[in-house]
Amino acid sequence: MSLGHPELVAAISSEITRNGPIPFVRFMELALYHPQYGYYMRQPNGEDHERIGWSGDFYTSSDVYPILGRALAAQARQMDELVGGPTPFMIIEMGAGKGFLARDCLAAIHARQDDFASRVRYVLIERSPAMRELQRQNLAPWLSKPGLVTWVEGLDGLAPQSVTGLFFSNELIDAFPVHQIQVTAERTEELYVDYREGRFVGCLKPLSTVALAQYLQQLNATWLEGYRTEVNLHAIDWMEQVARRMDRGFVLTIDYGHTAQDLYGLERKDGTFLCYFQQLTSEDPFIRVGDQDMTAHVDFSSLAAVGEKQGLHVTGFTNQMSFLMGLGVEEMIGELEPESPEFRAAIHLLKPDGMGSTFKVLVQHKGMSHPELDGLKFKPFFGSALAARSAAGHI
Ligand SMILES: C[S@@+](CC[C@H](N)C(=O)[O-])C[C@H]1O[C@@H](n2cnc3c(N)ncnc32)[C@H](O)[C@@H]1O
Repeated sequence: MSLGHPELVAAISSEITRNGPIPFVRFMELALYHPQYGYYMRQPNGEDHERIGWSGDFYTSSDVYPILGRALAAQARQMDELVGGPTPFMIIEMGAGKGFLARDCLAAIHARQDDFASRVRYVLIERSPAMRELQRQNLAPWLSKPGLVTWVEGLDGLAPQSVTGLFFSNELIDAFPVHQIQVTAERTEELYVDYREGRFVGCLKPLSTVALAQYLQQLNATWLEGYRTEVNLHAIDWMEQVARRMDRGFVLTIDYGHTAQDLYGLERKDGTFLCYFQQLTSEDPFIRVGDQDMTAHVDFSSLAAVGEKQGLHVTGFTNQMSFLMGLGVEEMIGELEPESPEFRAAIHLLKPDGMGSTFKVLVQHKGMSHPELDGLKFKPFFGSALAARSAAGHI
C-alpha cells in the first residue's frame, strides 16, 4: 500500500522529525492543503488522478444531475424577494470545487431574462488553485458578462457586513481539518501523528488547545472508554466569520452531518472520519497521504449556536431530499423520460437511504424576521421535538 505523495510525505515527516508528533488536525491540514503538495492543492498532471467526479475519488451532487443547482436558483430567487431588492443580490459560494453547482445555478437563473437575473452577482471563494482553474474553465460562458462572476481571496476578501444575498456551500465544511479525540481510562485525549520507521502512526496525548477542551465541555457528553470522535473547530471559526460578513440575507450550508446529539451519541462510538480513494472508503489516514480525500461529518448544532451569537438566526434545518421536494424537484423530474439515465441520476439525489438523507441543509438568516422558504417546507425526518427546538433558534 502506498504511503502517499512522496514530496508531501517528506514535508510532513520532516516537520514531525523537527518538532515531534503533530496533532491530527495539523496532519490533515497538510495532507489536504499543503500549499504545493496537498491533495486539493496540486495541479493535476498526467499521472495525477481527478479528485471530484465519477472517475475521481468521490462524487458530489452536482456530478449527478443539475437539479441541485436549479433548486438553489429557485431558492435564491425567493430569498431575493424576502431581502427586498433592488440592490445587487450576491450569491457567494465557498469551496465550489469544479464549479458545476455555480454553472447549473447561473444557467437556471439566466433562463429568465428578468430583474433578478440582472441583479445577481456570483462570487466564488476557493482555496485550491487547481480547483479555481477548473471553475474558470467550467464557468467560461459566464465570464464575458462584466461583474457577473468574480473570485475573492478567502473570507478576508469580503468586508464586515458587506453581503446582501446568499452565502452558500456544499460539502465545504466536511473538508475542513478536524481534531480526533479518544476517551481513555483516565480522560479524553487527542490523536497526534508520529513518524516511525518510515510510517505515520497515531499516538494519544493531552488535548492540544483550550478551545478543544471548551468545545468538549459544552457538549456535556458521557462517553465510555474507547469512544472516538472528531471535532471541527475550523467550522466554528468559519461560521463566526461568515456571520460577521452578512448584512442582510441567508447562509445555506449543505453537508454530511447531524445535530450534536446525533453526531456525538453513544452509538456513533467510532466517529465519522472517512477517507475516499477512487470511490472506495477507508478509515486509514496514514496511507495514500495526499492521494486520498479525508472527511468528517458536520456538527450542525454548533454551527447554529455560533451563528445565533452573531445575529444569524436559524431559518430551518432539513435534509437534501426535503429541500429539493420543497423547491419543486418533482416537476423537474416529471419532465424526464422515466428510467432514462437522467431520471435515475436525479432520483439518486433524493434517495431516503442515500444522498437524500445523509446530506443536511441548514439555513440561517440575518436582517429579517421569520422568513419562510420553499426549501424548508418539509422536515419529515426530524421529530417534532427537534422542529420545536429549531423554531426556537436551536437545533
Ligand atoms: C469536497 S469539495 C466540494 C466541492 C463542491 N462544493 C461540490 O459540491 O462539488 C471541497 C471544496 O472546498 C474547498 N475548500 C476547502 N477549504 C476551503 C477554504 N478554507 N476556503 C475555500 N475553499 C475551501 C476545496 O478546495 C474543495 O474545492
